[in-house]
Amino acid sequence: MPQATFICSDGAHRAVDVAIGANLMRAATDNGIEGIVGDCGGSMSCATCHVFVDEAFTAHLPDMASNEDQILDYTAAGRQPNSRLACQIVMNDALAGIVVRVADPQI
Ligand code: FES
Repeated sequence: MPQATFICSDGAHRAVDVAIGANLMRAATDNGIEGIVGDCGGSMSCATCHVFVDEAFTAHLPDMASNEDQILDYTAAGRQPNSRLACQIVMNDALAGIVVRVADPQI
């Protein structure tokens, strides 16, 4: 099964299994990744799954929906060029091994 690595605010790297078709927010909350809240359950209304995607993987990400683009402007940690919502990153073969840094704070 592919893995995703979350870099937490304390610098710890946590690699978790993510099934093809599963999103990174759910993988993070299921595995107790600190800092990924996922309050809205993935409906793009809370922005508490904000991550910064390692540049090696940004070209493989799905296109950003307009809703995601808008809500990223309201993240607590501030938007960066590699900001995405983890709930919108769905694992596929091209994203195997993806590395994301958890935005801090989320709220
Ligand atoms: S879980 Fe709410 S925006 Fe991603």
